[in-house]
Amino acid sequence: MSSSLLIQLDEESDDDPILNLATFFANDHPIEVELGFGKGRFLLDAAQRRPAHNFIGVEVASKYLRLAHGRARRRELQNLRFIHGDAREFVEFFVPAESVHAVHVYFPDPWPKKKHHKRRLIDAGFLSEAWRILQPEGRLWIATDHDEYYEVILEAFESFDQHFDLIEAPWNGVTTNYEDKFVSLGSTIHRHIVAKI
Ligand SMILES: C[S@@+](CC[C@H](N)C(=O)[O-])C[C@H]1O[C@@H](n2cnc3c(N)ncnc32)[C@H](O)[C@@H]1O
Repeated sequence: MSSSLLIQLDEESDDDPILNLATFFANDHPIEVELGFGKGRFLLDAAQRRPAHNFIGVEVASKYLRLAHGRARRRELQNLRFIHGDAREFVEFFVPAESVHAVHVYFPDPWPKKKHHKRRLIDAGFLSEAWRILQPEGRLWIATDHDEYYEVILEAFESFDQHFDLIEAPWNGVTTNYEDKFVSLGSTIHRHIVAKI
């Protein structure tokens, strides 16, 4: 996939992998990151509706990346870039401290089997990294339909009480594809929005 919309992470380089996010965009607008964007409905809509913000979407599945990338090109979105790779690695190794205005994680894979729990994206380690990359007052937006995973997420937050404030913010985006699916199945959607203190 060759396009300036897609950022390649160069794992072979000996250089410091921390990215200079400002060079991706020709401005210093606030940066929002969506991890595991799937078909990209939220990401594309947000980028279109908030042209004064820059968006970076991270997705591991090539088929979804290709789909969202094609849609972004057709819509000629200038404020959106894609990363093909692992969201946790991206956050941990490539994103500078205090560089991100908002992190969005919607319906992360719940990995329901106990032996797969370690594959879950959100745990205490992830929260620590999300806190690191957020600017002061930057927000972490999470939604899940999975009751047990939600409980685990809340427990992980307990160890970060001193760092994040729970906030009530109105939802101002479209629903994601998975959200529509879970709502149609009658699932309860848990939303958790916090701000870095
Ligand atoms: C259940 S889907 C939700 C997709 C979208 N957020 C939505 O709500 O419609 C989870 C998405 O996260 C992606 N994903 C899972 N693990 C990932 C990881 N480690 N890094 C990046 N993306 C990941 C999957 O490929 C999938 O697209």
